[in-house]
Amino acid sequence: MTAPSELVALVLAAGQGTRMKSALPKVLHPLLGRPMISFPVQAALDAGCSRVVCVLGHGRELVSAELAQRFGARVLPALQLEQRGTGDAARCGADALPEHAGRFLILNGDAALITAAPIAALLARASEQRAALGLLVARLPDATGYGRILRDGQGRVCAIREQKDCSPAEAAIQEWNPGVYVVDAAFFRSAVARLSTNNAQRELYLTDLVAIAAAEGGVSDVSWDAGELQGVNDRNELVARERELWLRVCHEHGRRGVTIRDPASTSIDLDSTIEADVTIEDGVQLRGRTAIARGVRIDVGCVLRDVTVEQDAVLLPYTVATSSTIGARAQVGPFSHLRPASELGEGAHVGNFVETKKTRLGRGSKANHLAYLGDGVVGAGVNVGAGTIFCNYDGFQKHTTVLEDGVFVGSDSQLVAPVTVGKDAYIATGTTVTSDVPAEALAIGRARQVNKEGLGTRMRLKLQAAAERAKKK
Ligand code: UD1
Ligand code: CA
Repeated sequence: MTAPSELVALVLAAGQGTRMKSALPKVLHPLLGRPMISFPVQAALDAGCSRVVCVLGHGRELVSAELAQRFGARVLPALQLEQRGTGDAARCGADALPEHAGRFLILNGDAALITAAPIAALLARASEQRAALGLLVARLPDATGYGRILRDGQGRVCAIREQKDCSPAEAAIQEWNPGVYVVDAAFFRSAVARLSTNNAQRELYLTDLVAIAAAEGGVSDVSWDAGELQGVNDRNELVARERELWLRVCHEHGRRGVTIRDPASTSIDLDSTIEADVTIEDGVQLRGRTAIARGVRIDVGCVLRDVTVEQDAVLLPYTVATSSTIGARAQVGPFSHLRPASELGEGAHVGNFVETKKTRLGRGSKANHLAYLGDGVVGAGVNVGAGTIFCNYDGFQKHTTVLEDGVFVGSDSQLVAPVTVGKDAYIATGTTVTSDVPAEALAIGRARQVNKEGLGTRMRLKLQAAAERAKKK
């Protein structure tokens, strides 16, 4: 037996989410990098639930794996084999904890914007009024699709009418059911057994508990901002909820000292972090576990996933980076591409049309224009000229290019890996480096130039004549 005050959450997530038209279970569709179901689960934990039972059906292996990874043992999966309605789903959840004698907090798995605040208000009101059932209510000018709240002559909630069962007058009601309830376990078990499928959808409606509670144990309700409680039924609703979330996240970062020029075009995943005094221009996306340190500037259109950016670094427009580290005071972009395992040292520069992959660039080293640096170990103070390529792949294996401290690589050079260029060596422009270069040496590998007097003009005339003959044919 659990303590009478213990609160256990039931999150209903067995439905297929038909309206999403997706192979992925609805509740795994991400919002700002987190699966939909993690929002009601997190809100329930934040509101003080000791355990959360998630009722799963469609795609349950995927959903339970995701839940186990994010929440561990605090979340228990329960199975609803056949989707017979939300009332049946909640019963399946409650049956997973037959000894529970406290209260159940019941939430829909698609409540993507829910937080602990409305739940706390709901719990407080229900305790204060000693009601068998408490629920949140909200208002919208047009509540189409939602269950409508029916009130009696004294203004007390007496039932919920689902959209498909509404009379025209009921359909005009603006007050709707967000699907967040708290119920006494004993009341719940007795009432849920009495639900019937006598309705338009032939389902066991959880919402019918409200009429039973109104008749038997009292209903308490708390009105809350609709914008925080709307669910997700299709893709349009998904992006609408996500947009709401990303504004919330941008404003929160704004309060902590981050300038976000255009929150409407900036998306920051919930697992990304930003220190104070950072400036983010329009159209930036920070995905996954990106971490931005103090003083960083991120210009227009940068897309970063799982990137660490250290203090005072500058990212110029349209930098794309994944699983990489950008050192303090480094400068990247415009139009640079850092692929996984790129590590730029303090003050390093990577410029336009430079691609790096699994390459470390030491302190103050520069690759400012048009280069591919793959599988490189580059020391400090190295200058990589325009058009340099690390030829890292022989069609079968990847090989490493090592440039020791102070190396100068002239423009349009190729380094055929594996190869090592020693400290302070100098690679002349246009050299194909195929063997190691000793420290301080000059490597030059290109054909010697010859100038042939007057031949330029003769060549031009010859080519012109040929072109004219071709035109006449
Ligand atoms: C439900 C409510 C409606 C409320 C709305 C709020 C009912 C009958 N209706 O409607 O009053 O306004 O939520 O968003 O409860 N689920 C199961 N097993 C089932 C059926 C559903 O686990 O057999 C799960 C779904 O996966 C989903 C949640 O319950 O996460 C709600 O189901 P859904 O079909 O989206 O209900 P709505 O029609 O939105
Ligand atoms: Ca829904």
